[in-house]
Amino acid sequence: MSRYTSDQYQAKQANANGWINYSADEHLIWSELYQAQISLVNRHMVKEYIEGLTHINMPSHRIPQCSEISEKLKNINGWQVEPVPALIGYDRFFNMLANKRFPAASFIRSRADFDYVKEPDIFHEIFGHAPLLTHNCVANFSQHIGKLGQNMPSENHSWLARLYWFTIEFGLIKNNNNEIVPMGSGLASSPTELIYASNSAKPRRKLFDVMDVLTTPYRIDIKQPIYYVLESFEQLTEITQRDLLADIEQAKSLGLQAPHHMLAQAC
Ligand SMILES: [Fe+2]
Repeated sequence: MSRYTSDQYQAKQANANGWINYSADEHLIWSELYQAQISLVNRHMVKEYIEGLTHINMPSHRIPQCSEISEKLKNINGWQVEPVPALIGYDRFFNMLANKRFPAASFIRSRADFDYVKEPDIFHEIFGHAPLLTHNCVANFSQHIGKLGQNMPSENHSWLARLYWFTIEFGLIKNNNNEIVPMGSGLASSPTELIYASNSAKPRRKLFDVMDVLTTPYRIDIKQPIYYVLESFEQLTEITQRDLLADIEQAKSLGLQAPHHMLAQAC
């Protein structure tokens, strides 16, 4: 999601054709990230992500332009990737998803933030998100979240955002062998958190439950202390068939749970 303030990174401005210029060193950072991550995602990510990566066939040695990725996605299911400033609000975020436009922050992380950058950068947006935007369950879920967000009071946006965070951004999922594997974009684009989410005994892994997810706070600046596990991609479709507005009202009446990172520190 592209909604965080950044005091370190400046948004790149696209020209009239939506084209962004990057320096040779920025292209080199992409190349280094790609080389570091490609073997890890092949080893750990859910196979549907890998299939999407093949469909997108993004460049490995330079930062792709959003228009290049959009050409691939448009042919598959009509989605597009559109450059946005590093900071956009929920209103714009949900409006874009509702219109099958994925907002892509345009800057690329520095080498100091190689393993994880709390503000989403172009590597996270393209390498992390684009592959599974080819999957209809993910694409339709994202659009549905966007439409719900468009039509709800802004005070409810952060509640809705947790559904997105614990699925599209940092979700785990059961594969065909009933093994729990990473599917989230924040995992696909983070060398260290992908391994942590796959192998570490430290984070909690809970089966996905709408009310549990809606009431679980998260932080963007640490490895996730808790991951939710989808039974399948079809579960995303089942979630869209619920009355999520009623779920959010119920969640609001229950209130947020204690932050899991605080519980972890207390143990
Ligand atoms: Fe993201």
